[in-house]
Amino acid sequence: MLLTGDTLATLAVAVAIFLLLVDQMHRHSRWAAHYPPGPMPLPGLGNLLQVNFQDPLLSFSQLRRRFGDVFSLQQAWTPVVVLNGLAAVREALVYRSQDNYDRPPATVYEHLGYGPRSEGVILRRFSSSTLRNFGLGKKSLEQWVTEEASCLCAAFADQPQRLLNKAVSNVIASLTFGSRFEYNDLRILKLLDILEDGLKEEVGFVRQVLEAIPVLLRIPGLAARVFPGQRAFMVLIDELVIEHRVTRDRAQPPRDLTDAFLDEVEVRGTPRAASRLVVSDLFSAGVITTSATLAWALLLMILHPDVQREPRRVQQEVDEVIGQVRQPEMGDQALVPFTMAVVHEVQCFGDIIALGLPHMTSRDIEVQGFLIPKGTTLITNLSSVPKDETIWKKPSHFHPEHFLDAQGRFVKQEALIPFSAGTCGPLACMERFLFFTSLLQHLSFSVPTGQPRPTGHGVFAFLVTPSPPYQLCALPC
Ligand code: HEM
Repeated sequence: MLLTGDTLATLAVAVAIFLLLVDQMHRHSRWAAHYPPGPMPLPGLGNLLQVNFQDPLLSFSQLRRRFGDVFSLQQAWTPVVVLNGLAAVREALVYRSQDNYDRPPATVYEHLGYGPRSEGVILRRFSSSTLRNFGLGKKSLEQWVTEEASCLCAAFADQPQRLLNKAVSNVIASLTFGSRFEYNDLRILKLLDILEDGLKEEVGFVRQVLEAIPVLLRIPGLAARVFPGQRAFMVLIDELVIEHRVTRDRAQPPRDLTDAFLDEVEVRGTPRAASRLVVSDLFSAGVITTSATLAWALLLMILHPDVQREPRRVQQEVDEVIGQVRQPEMGDQALVPFTMAVVHEVQCFGDIIALGLPHMTSRDIEVQGFLIPKGTTLITNLSSVPKDETIWKKPSHFHPEHFLDAQGRFVKQEALIPFSAGTCGPLACMERFLFFTSLLQHLSFSVPTGQPRPTGHGVFAFLVTPSPPYQLCALPC
């Protein structure tokens, strides 16, 4: 039967109305009383075109000015709420942490082996409890970090970023594989290359569209085209895990975290594929974060020689308390208040995980008087806190005094939340203190002669890192 023009038009209108109704149904959370305000979503696309995913921080600060600290977005059909400012972030992540411990479904990562919903939570719990059992806060892990710091000082060159990545990777390698790599080992070079490629694949419009409309990833070959780095990274991790499985002697205690997880797989029947996720999570979460923090630390030292050297500054304090002979230890933290203030101010100023990691509400919650329904993705704009003029005296300056009292004693600031509700604090704190003090104990950093002074700016690419990459001159003290 042929359709006439009139019938076709009626059919088109009916289909359009049906699609609009389906679209409205998917936005039902917006109908809830006290749902956070936000920009009007477009049918099907939601607010995808209204956020600049190359620079979401800028978009979020504009939207915050319009709608306040708690505002809503619609990513295609996924409801999202963005939390800004210390009060809102803390209320959600600290006081309501049990109600939003989940991550949103990682459909966009299914091609890497991540399963739906709770798997991420199981992995996070395993990683954090096993990290504790493997000596977090005990001497063994501290020794690994200290020994790696010595290797780093000995190998230091003018382009810090790559070397910092290698040193920090070695700490995670010690933890997960029981051994470190030489800095010129081809395996670590390959691992870092693909880790960096994988990170670049985390930002941009295409990535956001795939997250909002994951069914697109069913197009054959698309995942391999869009995420080549992340897939290559998993292949490498698989090789390392298989090597472990083959050499595991069950009569002996676990050699490292990978053995511990393989044991868990046997005892609890956890899916075998999850071992690659635990190991890859630790590498991807633990390497670039710490090395970006150290890259900020060295950049800020060359931009602020007065903080690095005299008067009464980091090197002088390290010299007086630790000297040149023995290596720094975690126990020294209480004796070097200025250095501690610098380390914390670096974390605050660098603001490396500006948007945290997304959470998802497991039941209806209330934040700052707004209702956030079950199943909503929460984005915590952690970056809004270090820039808050009502909390910090000089939020746009590098100002270690933010963490010192009038007597020069180190004071913790509740408002510093770089780990958000994360469980990575102890290892991250150990690494940043021991690497930083070891480097400044042995080396003096400055802008190389004839080079322009670096800008001190950062660029957002999932992490905020110094940009453009800078060079430095490192001379023995
Ligand atoms: C200065 C360095 C670091 C910073 C600023 C940092 C920050 C963060 C943040 C903001 C989160 C998200 C927390 C949330 O759920 O809201 C996180 C998660 C996590 N971090 Fe760190 N972190 C650092 C170092 C490390 C290190 C050294 C490890 C290694 C053991 C690590 C392991 C993890 C893990 C396993 C997660 C959970 C990942 C997931 O759920 O997929 N982090 N980190």
